[in-house]
Amino acid sequence: FMTYENLIVTNHGKVALITLNRPKALNALSPDLTRELGDALDVLEADNATAAVVLTGSEKAFAAGADIKAMKDWSYMDVYKSDFITATWERITKFRKPTIAAVAGYALGGGCELAMMCDFIIAADNAKFGQPEITIGTIPGAGGTQRLTRLVGKSKAMEMVLTGRMMDATEAERAGLVTRIVPLDELIPDALKTAQKIASMSLPITLMAKEAVNSAYEMTLNEGIHFERRLFHSTFATEDQKEGMNAFSEKRPPVFKDQ
Ligand code: CAA
Repeated sequence: FMTYENLIVTNHGKVALITLNRPKALNALSPDLTRELGDALDVLEADNATAAVVLTGSEKAFAAGADIKAMKDWSYMDVYKSDFITATWERITKFRKPTIAAVAGYALGGGCELAMMCDFIIAADNAKFGQPEITIGTIPGAGGTQRLTRLVGKSKAMEMVLTGRMMDATEAERAGLVTRIVPLDELIPDALKTAQKIASMSLPITLMAKEAVNSAYEMTLNEGIHFERRLFHSTFATEDQKEGMNAFSEKRPPVFKDQ
């Protein structure tokens, strides 16, 4: 229902699956690809039939990072004036509906950063995560030093950013970078099933839950708890809260109306 050169977008009930599709470059995140990703997210944000998004790559690579061949000759002024990493990359961090990164193979540099911009990561057993920018004479530029540190702690983040070494799926799960590991051939079915479960809830309540968890990274504990309390109270102004709690009391499944 949406056509792009570097992405494949398919519909699975209320879930949209975005597949990064530059196989010859291991899904390196070229300016064209990230522009298309931003466009696709704009469309899906506005689409009432979409309640959650799964972002994935190929079996070999989620994404091997920013496109080194595209950026190698850029000058300071090129990257400064265009504010590379540009807003199109970070569009997904402003996306209000839930996003799941389904990662198989390499998630390196900007690929790891893009996965970390999603709400959570499900990893295939062959997933490898890394911030190898140091090995090519630069540093992470799309949140790697910040999000990785918050997710896995200073020690591991520092070692990974300074040596460029990769983490396998087992280490990533142990470190809290990914929610769980599934066999490679179950990655997409599992991620879609998880997204469909989320999409079966009330969308406005889901948006509030996501916003509340995300605020934990931006606010003090007191402010965050205050914000959570206000959102929690506001769920009582929705029809879906009445429906959810009445359905429980009447021992029947709820029928949410996104109201
Ligand atoms: N940019 C551009 N092209 C890339 C790429 C990248 N990040 N990663 C892989 N490719 C290309 C390769 O150049 C190669 O193309 P050709 O066939 O035309 O030579 C093709 O994809 C296949 O790659 P390899 O032959 O290298 O495959 P491999 O299986 O031997 O190795 C790999 C896989 C370990 C992932 C290796 O490709 C690699 O190290 N890639 C670069 C990883 C990297 O450094 N990423 C960080 C980029 S910087 C960044 O992301 C900045 C930021 O924070 C935003």
